[in-house]
Amino acid sequence: MNRALPAVRLRVPTDEDALEWHRVFDDPEVMEFHGGRAAERSVYEELTARQRRHDAEYGFCLWTVLGPGDEVLGFTGAQPWPHSWGPAGKIEIGWRLGRAHWGKGYVTAAARITLERVRAAGVTDVVAMVNAGNARSIAVTKRLGMELAERFTLPSSRQEGHRYRLAL
Ligand SMILES: CC(C)(COP(=O)(O)OP(=O)(O)OC[C@H]1O[C@@H](n2cnc3c(N)ncnc32)[C@H](O)[C@@H]1OP(=O)(O)O)[C@@H](O)C(=O)NCCC(=O)NCCS
Repeated sequence: MNRALPAVRLRVPTDEDALEWHRVFDDPEVMEFHGGRAAERSVYEELTARQRRHDAEYGFCLWTVLGPGDEVLGFTGAQPWPHSWGPAGKIEIGWRLGRAHWGKGYVTAAARITLERVRAAGVTDVVAMVNAGNARSIAVTKRLGMELAERFTLPSSRQEGHRYRLAL
């Protein structure tokens, strides 16, 4: 892709960002591969608080992505794999944007910054775990140069999942 990526800013999620994440993700299309419906506000309060702890401990987290006018677009970043199944001990990269912000290159821009930061923190490889039907997310992994490392069955939906990997 030859177009210049849009400017984005990443910040460690604040208390208020829990409300912003809840607001921008309150959309069945955004949640299609995350249970299909909006999560409670308490989910985002816990998730943003956990990211602040990750930032303090590792120097990276799932950051709030801010657009050109400093509006909250969603999140992108990295965290230790958080589930009992899957790539235990690995660092996963992940992304989620409000529907109005898709199709503008924001996540690719934010993920590139993420990769630079986790590399600088000493991480040598990252994974992305994606539902095989999530074409937009798979397209992001391709733009980042990730390779498909494994096909597996997602424990929640029993659908096919892909594990993508990138050496840094
Ligand atoms: C997955 C998700 C983050 C992808 O968002 P996205 O906007 O498609 O991804 P990018 O930010 O990389 O943008 C790429 C798109 O912007 C377009 N674009 C516009 N200007 C651009 C620019 N300057 N640079 C790069 N791309 C640009 C690209 O053409 C592409 O659009 P297209 O696919 O319609 O051709 C989004 O669909 C989402 O939040 N989904 C719900 C949550 C989710 O499923 N998360 C992933 C779980 S694994």
